[in-house]
Amino acid sequence: MIEFYHVFKQYVKDQYALYDISLSIQKGEFIFLTGASGAGKSTLLKLIFKEELPSKGQILVNSNNINLIPQKELYLLRRNIGIVFQDFKLLANRTVYENVAIPLVVRGERKSAIDKMVVKVLAQVGLSHRKNYFPTHISGGEQQRVAIARAIVGNPKIVIADEPTGNLDTELSIEIFKIFEKINANGITTIIATHDRHLLNMFPKRTLRLDQGKYTPSGPAEATL
Ligand SMILES: Nc1ncnc2c1ncn2[C@@H]1O[C@H](COP(=O)(O)OP(=O)(O)O)[C@@H](O)[C@H]1O
Ligand SMILES: [Mg+2]
Repeated sequence: MIEFYHVFKQYVKDQYALYDISLSIQKGEFIFLTGASGAGKSTLLKLIFKEELPSKGQILVNSNNINLIPQKELYLLRRNIGIVFQDFKLLANRTVYENVAIPLVVRGERKSAIDKMVVKVLAQVGLSHRKNYFPTHISGGEQQRVAIARAIVGNPKIVIADEPTGNLDTELSIEIFKIFEKINANGITTIIATHDRHLLNMFPKRTLRLDQGKYTPSGPAEATL
């Protein structure tokens, strides 16, 4: 589903944010990406949805070499990927319902189809009762659940979350991770960057660890790449 072949990323000369990364993530996997601040986690995630370009190496998503996707077809890649950020990135002047509907409005879905899908995902994240609220009138944990609903409303094949619980306390973080587990149980490949050891221990999943831009594969299948 996602493959990196000898991927390097330099933002500035002589400094590598990512150094010779080869890895493979299978369809339907639940992956944690961890490592200290500055290790390259956000950079690695950004390469998957082509927010940043690798300096060297190849990245395949759904067997497509994403280096070769022309700018005007980038939306097709992004359509398959739902993204969740640490700071939620909700629109303050739109209701919960409207925030979740955005990806569907953008792609021109009909109102009735939008309504069906938004109602469904709001129920999935336990927020049906908040649909007419504005983001500033709900809690941080609820705001993140809105962001998750927005990420999955378009039926993506992959969900990527960059430190999604970085602004939340432990109890709310556990709740959020359980929602990601439910999403993953529906077959969506789920990749979460976090450096929260407590959460990593609570949710035993395959964990990719970056250390100053380098990744050392642990399993034999990865080591042969
Ligand atoms: N836009 C950028 N310009 C220059 N350097 C960057 C940029 N983004 C990240 N970096 C550098 O790349 C390295 C990896 O950063 P990042 O991917 O954000 O790590 P993490 O998410 O693990 O904290 C860091 O040294 C960071 O300073
Ligand atoms: Mg980061």
